[in-house]
Amino acid sequence: MTAEQEQAGRAKPALKRAKKRVFSGIQPSGDVHLGNYLGAVKGWTRRQHERESFHCIVDLHAITVPQEPETLRRQTRSLAAMLLACGLDPKVCTLFVQGHVSAHAEAAWILNCVTPLGWLERMTQYKDKAAKQESVPTGLLDYPVLMAADILLYDADEVPVGEDQKQHVELTRDIAERFNHLYGETFVVPQPVIPEVGARVMGLDNPMVKMSKTFAHIRGHVVRMLDEPKEIERSVLRAVTDSGNEIRFSDDPEKAGVNNLLGIYQVITEKSREQTERDFVGARGYGDLKKRVAETVIAELTPIRDRYERLMGDPAELDRLLAIGADHARSIASPKLEEMKRKVGLTTQAH
Ligand code: AMP
Ligand code: TRP
Repeated sequence: MTAEQEQAGRAKPALKRAKKRVFSGIQPSGDVHLGNYLGAVKGWTRRQHERESFHCIVDLHAITVPQEPETLRRQTRSLAAMLLACGLDPKVCTLFVQGHVSAHAEAAWILNCVTPLGWLERMTQYKDKAAKQESVPTGLLDYPVLMAADILLYDADEVPVGEDQKQHVELTRDIAERFNHLYGETFVVPQPVIPEVGARVMGLDNPMVKMSKTFAHIRGHVVRMLDEPKEIERSVLRAVTDSGNEIRFSDDPEKAGVNNLLGIYQVITEKSREQTERDFVGARGYGDLKKRVAETVIAELTPIRDRYERLMGDPAELDRLLAIGADHARSIASPKLEEMKRKVGLTTQAH
């Protein structure tokens, strides 16, 4: 390493922005459900004004496991429409499809060349997923490097992820530090932000397990964002509860079902725990609770479903919004990619 490189490697990140920048990636796989909405998407819509937010639909990550092309295309558009319908405002945040911004794949290549193979082979998600494949695509191993490219191209300060993705964000930090060390200060080293539990929605059929896509085939487990009101009502009215009649928040596993229903009601209405419990004083048993929760969920999801249908019915408008998102993403990612190329010695124009 030259003295110049060493000096540059020690430099402090010099970026000062009015708002912190957040980058999140979402895979276009499976139907969005109430757990995703209350645990993640609703919070993004609320915080989009406080942070400079980038929400990326990661189609390039999706193809690291086999995908049916038509299904992938449909799910990518459908997820974009759903996120917009839930309230992500393209005037406030940046919503785009990863594959529309070629800088992601190019940056991943450059980062590949500074990432030791051993770092990737240690990733637990890779080991789990690889064990399920007869033939392991190279892309599956490389998945976290593409994720690092997503994050680093935008100099994101914060990366909201579930616990399962924390290791990948830590790897992103290692890759950023290594690149900064080798080529001089280039990237902000991001922080993973694990959302507080609290908005953890449990399965309606079994309040001891998290509501999840994996169990979506079990009747009455999930409420999908696109379920008809009748179906939502049926699932909520059949939700598993205990044999008592006390409507209150509780850590008692016996009361997990009631706790879950109250939690759903609370997150949607944005009331305090006390106010939530007070709303059910005088209710006649769990039947009343379930009816009220079903009505609340239906009232929240109906306008979202209507907006979703409208967006899906106007593909030109959806394409226009995604193109605006990709243009804005590119305006940040392209100069960063140019900087990376310049630093590693690739010839670039305009420098
Ligand atoms: P996934 O469906 O696992 O890809 O998750 C997408 C986002 O939704 C992540 O931020 C998860 O933390 C969140 N999420 C998924 N299931 C739930 C749930 N049952 N309760 C709360 N948040 C959830
Ligand atoms: N790997 C993430 C997941 O499966 C998705 C993802 C891709 C992501 N790129 C990202 C998340 C960048 C945060 C930041 O959930």
